[in-house]
Amino acid sequence: MMPSTTQVMEPHRAQWKTAWGFLLAAVGSAIGLGSIWRFAYVCYENGGGAYLIPYLVALVSAGIPLMILEYGIGHQMRGSAPMSFARIRPQWEWLGWWMVMFVMFGIVLYYAVVIAWCLCYFWFSLNLAWGGDPNTFFFQQFLGMTAGPHAIGDIRSPILLALVVVWALNWLVVFFGIDRGIERANKIFMPLLIGLILALTAWNFTLPGAREGMLRFLRPDFSRLADPKVWIDAYSQIFFTLSLGFGIMIAYASYLPRKADITQSAWVTALVDTAVSLLAGLAVFGTLGYMADATGKPFEQVVQHGIGLAFVAYPQAISLLPSFRSLFGALFFLALAVAGIASSISILEAFSAAVIDKFRYPRKVVVTVLSVLGFLGGIVFATGGGLAWLDIVDHFLSHYGLFIACALQCVLVGWIYGARRLREHVNAVSRMRIGRLFDWSIRYLVPAMLMVLLVTDLLKDLREPYGRYPWLALVLIGRDWLLVTLLLALLLAGRAWRRPIQ
Ligand code: PFF
Repeated sequence: MMPSTTQVMEPHRAQWKTAWGFLLAAVGSAIGLGSIWRFAYVCYENGGGAYLIPYLVALVSAGIPLMILEYGIGHQMRGSAPMSFARIRPQWEWLGWWMVMFVMFGIVLYYAVVIAWCLCYFWFSLNLAWGGDPNTFFFQQFLGMTAGPHAIGDIRSPILLALVVVWALNWLVVFFGIDRGIERANKIFMPLLIGLILALTAWNFTLPGAREGMLRFLRPDFSRLADPKVWIDAYSQIFFTLSLGFGIMIAYASYLPRKADITQSAWVTALVDTAVSLLAGLAVFGTLGYMADATGKPFEQVVQHGIGLAFVAYPQAISLLPSFRSLFGALFFLALAVAGIASSISILEAFSAAVIDKFRYPRKVVVTVLSVLGFLGGIVFATGGGLAWLDIVDHFLSHYGLFIACALQCVLVGWIYGARRLREHVNAVSRMRIGRLFDWSIRYLVPAMLMVLLVTDLLKDLREPYGRYPWLALVLIGRDWLLVTLLLALLLAGRAWRRPIQ
């Protein structure tokens, strides 16, 4: 096993060109569809400004320690998730495979389809194609939604076409590797994304009623803090929004040079993601405030949850704008697409890194094969039944899969490898020192919180089938999707390494 404060030697491993490049890529992975529109309505629903308290508590008590853990392990072990875990204990390699497997062959398959919708809506913005009834347009005309997951319906060609574009972009960036591909792309994507969101927020300030919308978004309702659901939502949002438990941050940190400030990088990534989520929330709710003002409807009536917020309420608001509607719409959907692509790139890299580490195949081949598979696997979500499939797979993977994987990761590092040992490595390379609270968080708090999330979900799902889908659909699509990824992970972990790794 590894000594505590030295890094494993991997002489030919690629490296970020600059510390900045690494941070931009990590922030790019964190800021995604989840941070932009999910944060906004979860915040509004859970007490507005008061939700920031549980959110920040979850960020500091679980998000940052887990981020330091993932950066620290990747940096010390210098490997993708399977390689890093195998270096800690060979019997745990499967966990690393499982993480990258259910994200690459689960989450990102439908995530890329949502990015494809954003690209289509970017295009639709140019002539406000959704017309006077964005609701019917989205669900019927655009998605061609069927009666449920059992009826697949037809493949929607505009979505399929946009999906090709999404995977082509993912492929193009990751094909060129760490510094020439991912680092360079994020140096364009991140300033562009932040610029777009700032422009949208500033534009909102000129719209009547927007300020009222923003205030509604942030106005604290402290009584909500007594509701455990608010705290549960905050913890659950933190893992997803910071891309923790995905194997991504481990892979990204494995390309850091020996001298790299782990603790500071974790804080910066988490705080920039939070700041951008808040800013995007202001932009989204400002526009809804404008819509309430323009239609004379009460604010609660114009707010929509989930997918409807971006693809129904927002287009409705765009159509009501006094001028430059197309530009406003294009900016919003472009921002979403850019945020999504910077995230999908990160999992393509995390999975490619795992395959390259283990089998030593050339990067260009691995990335090409994975991109084609990613596209093919996404087709089912681009059909009329796609939305139901997406909803079910998302529920099982980004809840059960993510919570279990994160908790096991805490057991492996906190208990088997030793939280203290990792802390010593992190402190040896970082300016800011972390104390024993880190060990406590990794060993007790985070796993306990994850168990609470898991049990709450399980009880809720047993009481009433998720989304009122038929049981059979939930079992065959949701549970089995998770089990198949687990089986594949075990199979991959069982194969021999092409080169000794210790
Ligand atoms: N952090 C991302 C978000 O908030 O949207 C989550 C994510 C999803 C990352 C899919 C990577 C990925 F492939």
